[in-house]
Amino acid sequence: MPSILSDQTLPAQGRPDQSWLPDSARGGLHEAPFGLYIHVPFCASRCGYCDFNTYTAAELGPGASQHEYVDSVLAELRLVRHILGPNLPTVRTIFLGGGTPTLLPAAHLAAMLDEIRAEFPVADDVEITIEANPESVTRASFAELVRAGVNRVSLGMQSAVPHVLSVLDRLHTPGQALRAAQDARAAGIERVSLDLIYGTPGESDEDWQISLDSALSAGVEHLSAYALIVEPGTSLARQVAAGQLSPPDDDVLADRYEQADLSLSAAGLDWYEVSNWATSPAGYCRHNELYWTGGNWWGIGPGAHSHIGGARWWNRKHPAAYARLLAEGASPAHGSELLDDGQRRIETIMLGIRLRTGVPVGSLSERGQQRAEEAVTYGLLDRVAFADGRAALTMRGRLLADAVVRDLTD
Ligand SMILES: C[S@@+](CC[C@H](N)C(=O)[O-])C[C@H]1O[C@@H](n2cnc3c(N)ncnc32)[C@H](O)[C@@H]1O
Ligand code: SF4
Repeated sequence: MPSILSDQTLPAQGRPDQSWLPDSARGGLHEAPFGLYIHVPFCASRCGYCDFNTYTAAELGPGASQHEYVDSVLAELRLVRHILGPNLPTVRTIFLGGGTPTLLPAAHLAAMLDEIRAEFPVADDVEITIEANPESVTRASFAELVRAGVNRVSLGMQSAVPHVLSVLDRLHTPGQALRAAQDARAAGIERVSLDLIYGTPGESDEDWQISLDSALSAGVEHLSAYALIVEPGTSLARQVAAGQLSPPDDDVLADRYEQADLSLSAAGLDWYEVSNWATSPAGYCRHNELYWTGGNWWGIGPGAHSHIGGARWWNRKHPAAYARLLAEGASPAHGSELLDDGQRRIETIMLGIRLRTGVPVGSLSERGQQRAEEAVTYGLLDRVAFADGRAALTMRGRLLADAVVRDLTD
């Protein structure tokens, strides 16, 4: 069986064996931490701004229903186990993301986690995160998730202001988000994170402050704040194009980011990645750190992406096609690429520069190092860190992170 990286085998036919993973990737399997991502592609309704690979029940026919989904995930987990062979990496993080994983019965999520523990060596201190929409959870459902092994939850709060939640098409009220955070803790979830979005049309500086204060009142140890992106093809993009909503303004987004950083750091949450803050390193999302630091992960589920040792691949996007391939015993992978050393180096810089720790100046090309020196004079990179051999963003650099990355890697 030729490996995933031979185009003529895509989509893969028949049951893949160990040769499916190229030797170069297998060689890197034990050189970096390993995690599993399980995508749950279902939502009760679609938020107008979101372009993630997710479907409402009405959009999916037989063979791809929420109820049947667990069987496909279990089949893919067994396939992964088979491809990886006897020398398995230890699973350090598991991330149940979506979509809305908490739409599935807790018993199905527990079955997925049980299968992982049955098939893989799992670290004693494994981090098991679940993404949850506030209206989709209760104290009782969190308790079931704790029994299944979940120890971290990331709640999609987005805003504490009703008119902002309404523009975002969210189904929950501000009170439900805070209650969900309390319920998670009361049920024994060790770490709780909240997601916020800023720059929604109609949101004022005061509205944003209300959201920040409200999120802080929950006493969480981790918070993510994302600038609203108008994704092409979404209902939000259509409303913006029709002039019904005004797009987020770059200056306003920059102000909101600074406002967030001030409020969060005053409350003891420091940034550790451009869009992420935590009370201490123990609160960092270890799974996302895998993505940002060149770790290995296998993405399970429709459209899920994977990376092992410089090989990247992604699954069929539609749940029906995904389920059909697995039912036939075939791989659901649909495309792949092998990064060369130069591409891997650039990727490491692009992701690493967004971390508070930055990247070693020596990892930049000669031209990149010259540009970094200029970036210090423009106040984009920290002077003290630079003198210490690291390229690390200042506040101004964080506001212009994408431009700095382009400049250092060109
Ligand atoms: C895709 S959702 C999945 C989790 C869950 N369904 C929810 O909505 O909270 C993960 C996070 O992505 C962020 N997100 C999704 N689309 C976005 C967009 N267009 N702009 C900014 N953030 C976005 C939201 O903050 C959301 O909490
Ligand atoms: S933001 Fe979350 S709840 Fe809304 S459509 Fe996207 S994945 Fe579903």
